[in-house]
Amino acid sequence: MAHLLSTSCSLNIPSCRKPSFQQLNQGLIGLPTSFTVKTSKSPVRTVILPAQRSQRCHTVYATATPFTPTQSRSGLHQSSNDPSKAKRVMIIGGDGYCGWATALHLSNKGYEVAIVDSLIRRLFDHQLGLDSLTPIASIHDRLRCWKSLTGKNIELYIGDICDFEFLSESFKSFEPDAVVHFGEQRSAPYSMIDRSRAVFTQHNNVIGTLNVLFAMKEFRQECHLVKLGTMGEYGTPNIDIEEGYITINHNGRTDTLPYPKQASSFYHLSKVHDSHNIAFTCKAWGIRATDLNQGVVYGVRTDETAMHEELCNRLDYDGVFGTALNRFCVQAAVGHPLTVYGKGGQTRGYLDIRDTVQCVELAIANPAQPGEFRVFNQFTEQFSVNQLAALVTKAGEKLGLDVKTISVPNPRVEAEEHYYNAKHTKLIELGLQPHILSDSLLDSLLNFAIQFKDRVDSKQIMPSVSWRKIGTKPKTVAA
Ligand SMILES: NC(=O)c1ccc[n+]([C@@H]2O[C@H](COP(=O)([O-])OP(=O)(O)OC[C@H]3O[C@@H](n4cnc5c(N)ncnc54)[C@H](O)[C@@H]3O)[C@@H](O)[C@H]2O)c1
Repeated sequence: MAHLLSTSCSLNIPSCRKPSFQQLNQGLIGLPTSFTVKTSKSPVRTVILPAQRSQRCHTVYATATPFTPTQSRSGLHQSSNDPSKAKRVMIIGGDGYCGWATALHLSNKGYEVAIVDSLIRRLFDHQLGLDSLTPIASIHDRLRCWKSLTGKNIELYIGDICDFEFLSESFKSFEPDAVVHFGEQRSAPYSMIDRSRAVFTQHNNVIGTLNVLFAMKEFRQECHLVKLGTMGEYGTPNIDIEEGYITINHNGRTDTLPYPKQASSFYHLSKVHDSHNIAFTCKAWGIRATDLNQGVVYGVRTDETAMHEELCNRLDYDGVFGTALNRFCVQAAVGHPLTVYGKGGQTRGYLDIRDTVQCVELAIANPAQPGEFRVFNQFTEQFSVNQLAALVTKAGEKLGLDVKTISVPNPRVEAEEHYYNAKHTKLIELGLQPHILSDSLLDSLLNFAIQFKDRVDSKQIMPSVSWRKIGTKPKTVAA
């Protein structure tokens, strides 16, 4: 296994730029400290006051697109408060992989959409020397392009949801009927790089979600939270995985309880903490919430992102942010052997990004009841890593690629051969029509990987983070 992370910090950046917890928590560096938001009600609103922030190299900020919101609120999907108005959906993390595809999809379907994002995912790439395989436009260019193609406006609030003042202003300004929360640090390897990234991940994710819950309670009690969890929260138990709850008989008594969680990284643990906090606030405050325990997402193309190259989604193939199938396709495209970790029997649920956007739409259109904590397992098929490698090999051969597979030492601590059978019927019952991997592998993934293979940085392919070697010293990618 190649280790791409040095044990000392070699970036040589000023102290306020070091990738420490504190700095990361403050969001992007060097950006203005006072900002304005445009809303349909007040053309310009000051969101963050600069006073105390500038002294702390504080970087949390809020802004909006330069677009004038001109869309009428009448659309296909109606707000529960006023049936003549389209549902207003706030997408936290809307500049990321799942969030961007979802924002465009919902906007296309007639929802009023706002994106809330700190853009910190782009900062992670800069810090670690990574890049999306596909070139991605800035969020402003993306939204301008969408507006010019469709006439639809997507409002933009740039800021960190760990900053409650920023989040509150975004809520008060946009008044969402539903909040889709993608806005977390979502890489297990990232959370296992070093202590500062582990602490950052848990702070960013747990406090961010807690702030969303408080904002809902304070400003939008009727709002429906659609929160992205992960199938990884369950681990790999030796029994079937249910959708959120399991009925247990114990010493002659019966109860339906939250399904046991066995997270396997500091990232996955942050998602477990989120689920507990959400469940508690549903019970205590009557929040309505849907926890989407999502499987591993693959693919890059959706109907909307395919409309223009500036709308193209990101595709991560590196050892930190790349997910298994996306990585295998890129490896096949550049002639690198597919890197199976250990024995390759690790089995997980997978879904096409086109199904992610469908699932979120279904959850919004069929909201949870007040006080209900609803859990859906959001994936369509399950595969072992060896099965994925075989599928990519076969698809690659059809395109004339010579695809080889190697086993590399597993950087993670996980079972490499195990029972896995997870239920996933609730979204199907709501109307999900899954894309099947064997049909979409070539067009949605492998051909993309081949198209952009000249952008591949081969240094980023091998796994670079070891679960066992995590330490307290800050690590960074060696140049
Ligand atoms: N991609 C997958 O395969 C997958 C699988 C299961 C679950 N999920 C979950 O789906 C969600 C989205 O995943 P993704 O792959 O799109 O991730 P991503 O990293 O591409 O996108 C996340 C976005 O959230 C933003 N963000 C992070 N912290 C924020 C904060 N404090 N304030 C404001 N914005 C913040 C980032 O800048 C980024 O744009 C995550 O919660 C992840 O755990 C993803």
